[in-house]
Amino acid sequence: MKVTVVGAGNVGATCADVLAYKEIANEIVLVDIREGFAEGKALDIWQKAPIDLYDSRTIGSTNDYAKTANSDIVVITSGLPRKPGMTRDDLIATNAEIVTGVTKNIVAHSPNAIIIVVSNPLDVMTYAAHITCKLPRTRVMGMAGILDTARYRAFLAEALNVSPKDIHAMILGGHGDTMVPLPRYTTVGGIPVTELIDATTLDAIVKRTINGGGELVKLMGTSAWYAPGSAAAQMVEAIAKDQRRVLPVCINLEGEYGIKDCYLGVPVILGKNGVEKVIELQLNDAERSLLETSRKHVKDVMEAFDKMRK
Ligand code: NAI
Ligand code: 2OP
Repeated sequence: MKVTVVGAGNVGATCADVLAYKEIANEIVLVDIREGFAEGKALDIWQKAPIDLYDSRTIGSTNDYAKTANSDIVVITSGLPRKPGMTRDDLIATNAEIVTGVTKNIVAHSPNAIIIVVSNPLDVMTYAAHITCKLPRTRVMGMAGILDTARYRAFLAEALNVSPKDIHAMILGGHGDTMVPLPRYTTVGGIPVTELIDATTLDAIVKRTINGGGELVKLMGTSAWYAPGSAAAQMVEAIAKDQRRVLPVCINLEGEYGIKDCYLGVPVILGKNGVEKVIELQLNDAERSLLETSRKHVKDVMEAFDKMRK
């Protein structure tokens, strides 16, 4: 299994480290445009192998895509992160150019790869990668829902003083202020969360989740990387090991949830072919209305990107 991670910055290097440490791939190529940077990160991860006892090889490359040839899976993390005061959408012009260029290089060397986009604004960068590589939608997806759901699960575990392992949840929609956490589909050891927590506390946790990325940008001056890097690695693992995990993933919707031609986070089954199936949840009126707000927001940013390309 060969996996390329483009962008050896905070998220990309963390993802590569998790892939190596958990031996999800035996060959991991890190690519960056900064001279020597990816080589340095790859060497550092390789030098950790005798300590943490893994044998995955990590190789670095300064923009040389020949080294990425025949990758099975490619994770794109290249692009600017948010600074305080910025929204993810503020990154669109710069990151669209980076993601488009990177995607062209990827498909030229790995025409059969499955592509996982992480760069922001996530839903629209997934769109940019998809229209550039022209692969089936099942092979081009974005990572955000696993991260957003993890934040929600972590906050719930803290409030309930239980293990995060026992919290299962689902978040739909775009990666941003319009994401749609679903308390109705949240359980704690199989028990509906609404039986264990009062509505005011739950509402506060939902709001904190929606602002989860912003909370970290405010604290650190840049966006998060440990949870995002692990979340991307979890998607790689599900595909590499054909685990058929049920995870929230951003994909172009083709009529599911009554939505067409819009990239949104929805639950899918993730396996060796990428997205094996999109799962359609039964939504009530309030949830449907929130998803429609999210759809409209993502569509507006997709259209802003379309105007830039013309
Ligand atoms: P970072 O600045 O630490 O790393 C980005 C790396 O991309 C840099 O090393 C840079 O040299 C490299 N790069 C830029 N242009 C490139 C190109 N053309 N080819 C190869 N490499 C290139 O940023 P960080 O924190 O790793 O974030 C990366 C992206 O991921 C940002 O857009 C950020 O907003 C996004 N992100 C998305 C999340 C999600 O849930 N989808 C979560 C966290 C971050
Ligand atoms: C996050 O949610 C910035 O998208 C990034 O942490």
